[in-house]
Amino acid sequence: MKKVLPILASVIIIGLIANCQFKSEPKPEAKQVDPAAYTMKGKELATATQKVLGGNLKAAIESKGTEHALEFCNVKAYPLTDSMAVALNAAISRVSDQPRNAANTANEDELDYITHAKKVLAEGGEVTPKLAQLGDKVVGYYPIITNQLCMQCHGNPDSQIKDATLAKINQLYPADEATGYSEGELRGIWVVEMDIDGE
Ligand code: HEC
Repeated sequence: MKKVLPILASVIIIGLIANCQFKSEPKPEAKQVDPAAYTMKGKELATATQKVLGGNLKAAIESKGTEHALEFCNVKAYPLTDSMAVALNAAISRVSDQPRNAANTANEDELDYITHAKKVLAEGGEVTPKLAQLGDKVVGYYPIITNQLCMQCHGNPDSQIKDATLAKINQLYPADEATGYSEGELRGIWVVEMDIDGE
């Protein structure tokens, strides 16, 4: 019996460890989510944020001039979208493969979607959102396409961005990579991280 006990104890301990690992690994996959519902929810937040941002950016450019409106192309400038995100149990951010602000640099998963989206656009197709389950979160990716308004800060630095604006951009963002875009190009993506309901 004396010899059996330690063996028995190790078997139980090994069993517990194995069980723990087994339990903690497949957990994220085990939760069922309705992809369509989360894609919609993320889109709602991304669209609303885009609308607030675009509206305020335009108003700021009209009233102050482009070079004084730089801080209005920043999601964090808008408490309204923040409170909306909180209400939806979500967090929203914007990232790019050619960031102006290094804090907005896309990670590997985000880059995968960006590469895919650029390819679809180049082939004349329409980019659709993507949903991924990462741990206990659902993440939605949505394209951000340039329009005419963006050109005065993200367009051709020689012909579309005014000298005063370019000087201010270079002063604030010495490592800027976000010029040289044309209209209808992928400038970056919205990343919406949503809690899985019921948690
Ligand atoms: C008044 C100048 C200005 C205009 C116009 C403008 N942006 Fe920006 N944009 C900026 C600045 C400055 C930043 C960096 C913000 C920060 O520090 O987070 C930025 C950042 C971004 C980012 C985040 C990634 C990065 O490069 O840091 C995206 C995406 C973006 N802009 C898209 C757009 C789109 C799309 C439009 C047109 C609808 C647009 N911008 C119009 C100045 C502008």
